[in-house]
Amino acid sequence: MSEFWSIWIIVLTAANILGCFWLIRWTMKKRAGESAQGDVTGHTWDGDLQEYNNPLPRWWLWLFYITLVFAAVYLALYPGLGKFQGFLGWSSGNTLGAVDSQYQAEMAKAAEKYDPIFQQYAAVAVTDLAAKPEYEEARDMGKRLYLTYCMQCHGSDAGGARGFPNLRDGEWLWGGAPEQIKVSIAAGRVGVMPPHAHLGDDKIDQVTAYVLSLSGRNVDAAKAEAGKDVFMTSGCIGCHGLDGTGNQMLGAPNLTDKVWLYGGSAGAIKETLNKGRNGVMPPHSDLLGDEKVHLLTAYVYSLSKQQ
Ligand code: HEC
Ligand code: HEC
Repeated sequence: MSEFWSIWIIVLTAANILGCFWLIRWTMKKRAGESAQGDVTGHTWDGDLQEYNNPLPRWWLWLFYITLVFAAVYLALYPGLGKFQGFLGWSSGNTLGAVDSQYQAEMAKAAEKYDPIFQQYAAVAVTDLAAKPEYEEARDMGKRLYLTYCMQCHGSDAGGARGFPNLRDGEWLWGGAPEQIKVSIAAGRVGVMPPHAHLGDDKIDQVTAYVLSLSGRNVDAAKAEAGKDVFMTSGCIGCHGLDGTGNQMLGAPNLTDKVWLYGGSAGAIKETLNKGRNGVMPPHSDLLGDEKVHLLTAYVYSLSKQQ
């Protein structure tokens, strides 16, 4: 924060508090000499409800003073007035180079408690963590991490949503082996399905019929046959494979199963083809570190093995 803004905030804050004080004094002064006290003001509601000209009760007035004193004491002890740190030197973070940071202290305390546990599990194979009864606690920790960092996108039950893959169905875009899951979580993934609007409506229509037929859906046979040609000659096979079963190196989905990332209606498939798709799984290694990624891998792996 620059010097100017610091002073600006201090002046505004102080002016506000002094202003409140002045306002209370001013209304009191005005009241003192008022001879009309106790009279009606002339305001009437609901027919016969009249307003009297009486002062605020004392105790009420004192509440105002107490809030002003509280504000002054608070701003003296804690940060709040521009760059001034407060006499206690308290800080929630370390951004201002504070003497003592509550955040850092809590992180250090948590690290002391949990780091040995994380390290211990980091040495155990993912397949063991995922399956063996004695590692139940590790899976619980993985689940808590999942609920903190992953459920916004993949759902609290890891069942996924449109555009966000289901992690428990045993069908994988990028592979379900422990190492593959770990790469997905640590380094992130970017799925690139290029738009194909240039094919034109007819060919999009035909190849949609073919894609639907791959997973056993009833379609116009002639249309699907024409769509097969489109599929073979328009680059689809380069990513989805000759038989449409996909390619986990590219995150290209298997089109022959009944699992759809973006929806399996003819409309959803046409939208995929016309506009393309671009699913992004953000990388988590910097945020979480290797040990937590390891626990998350074990948890996700265990989910897919429960089916
Ligand atoms: C450059 C590689 C590439 C090419 C070429 C390509 N795709 Fe894709 N396709 C992908 C990827 C990757 C995804 C997944 C996108 C994502 O994860 O966001 C995908 C997704 C899809 C989906 C959605 C599947 C679902 O589960 O919702 C369909 C349908 C599809 N492609 C059909 C086709 C067809 C038909 C063609 C040819 C006209 C084609 N793709 C060409 C890579 C490709
Ligand atoms: C911002 C949303 C978002 C968050 C947060 C997120 N993911 Fe993902 N994740 C995605 C998307 C989107 C994909 C699919 C990428 C694609 O289309 O290829 C994905 C893909 C994956 C895959 C690969 C799935 C497959 O079928 O191969 C795994 C595993 C995964 N995520 C696990 C996690 C875990 C564990 C976390 C928490 C640490 C997490 N994700 C957090 C959006 C997210």
